[in-house]
Amino acid sequence: MSESETLAMSRMSRELKAEGHDVINLSVGEPDFFTPDAVKEAGKKAIDENYSFYTPVNGYQDLREAICHKLERDNKLSYTPDQIVVSTGAKHSIANTVLCLVNPGDEVVIPTPYWVSYREIVKMAEGKAIYVKAGIENNFKITPDQLDEALTDKTSVFIFSSPCNPTGSVYSKEELKALAEVFAKYPNVYIISDEIYEHINFGGKHESIAQFEAIRERVILVNGVSKGFAMTGWRIGYIAAHPEIAKACNKLQGQFTSGTCSIAQRAALKAMQADPSTTHSMLEKFRERRDLVLKLLEEVPGTKTNEPQGAFYVFINVKSYFGKSDGEKTIKDAFDFCMYLLKKAHIALVPGSAFGDDECVRFSYATSNDLLEEAVARMKKSLAELK
Ligand SMILES: Cc1ncc(COP(=O)(O)O)c(C=O)c1O
Repeated sequence: MSESETLAMSRMSRELKAEGHDVINLSVGEPDFFTPDAVKEAGKKAIDENYSFYTPVNGYQDLREAICHKLERDNKLSYTPDQIVVSTGAKHSIANTVLCLVNPGDEVVIPTPYWVSYREIVKMAEGKAIYVKAGIENNFKITPDQLDEALTDKTSVFIFSSPCNPTGSVYSKEELKALAEVFAKYPNVYIISDEIYEHINFGGKHESIAQFEAIRERVILVNGVSKGFAMTGWRIGYIAAHPEIAKACNKLQGQFTSGTCSIAQRAALKAMQADPSTTHSMLEKFRERRDLVLKLLEEVPGTKTNEPQGAFYVFINVKSYFGKSDGEKTIKDAFDFCMYLLKKAHIALVPGSAFGDDECVRFSYATSNDLLEEAVARMKKSLAELK
């Protein structure tokens, strides 16, 4: 397995910072906001109330009930608590699911650009990843024909995120319906629907592929509190799935980690019970920043992007810089491009190769307007020096 390239970039930028450089870190994958006060209070109360014992492997019953209530309230999806497994972050939920569903040699279809860990988790399960390229011309989304072409009788799982990390693309209800119609023709394929960015969606209502009855039993809905409630460090994610799949994940988790942290679960319960409007002020801030970054990038020659509809990233095509040089080193690919900007402009981005697209870089706007303005100004100046 490879080291997570996003974490590697964060590490390098921390090292430069430690040497005294003023680094602007745009490689981060987490909101720069604090966890809501009521959620923090619930965590403190849990400590005082001695929530210090082992928890049920699949999570506290009331938390799983609250997750079912949330899925009904926000997504009009009906689940029972035995269909929910709470884990140590959505990443853990995805790893559990892939390990349960993928046998060595199975094909796993993944649209590109993909979230970096899908590839490595599939490798861990000894699955064979089949990538389907979604280009900028189609807003980084795959078409039903592309999906139909990629699925075979060896496919066991399809995995995607909407809103997507790294592109911010969001599949509409119609687009999901068209994909669901293709899946209906392949009854052995499971669909892992990563919805961790549900609450950071600028287009309005979140749509889940689990809403289509014909494939519902085969959808494993993954979500959690990390992004929407600014709770990345608390480590709570969950799946909602067919009871047999939930049972398998429960069994696996029982041998690996046991139930996740008691305190974090009590805090997550508060987040689940919160009115969805709790997350709106953060959403509005992200929308404002997205608009700012898109406007600033228009002034940077040779960069191309789409208009992201969710998450907090812009995926920028920088191919026009490949082959250019600062007199010392020629930029061959997105990795060289990121290294150049890290060393020259002290800005940390993530090369698109981490997400399966080597022509692009990921720019996270989970930081203040002032830093975003400063970062793009530095980027523009340093790129102008490449010939
Ligand atoms: C698309 C996607 N899925 C899952 C995760 C993992 O979320 P968690 O922190 O809850 O494990 C991330 C985090 O970056 C993500 O971007």
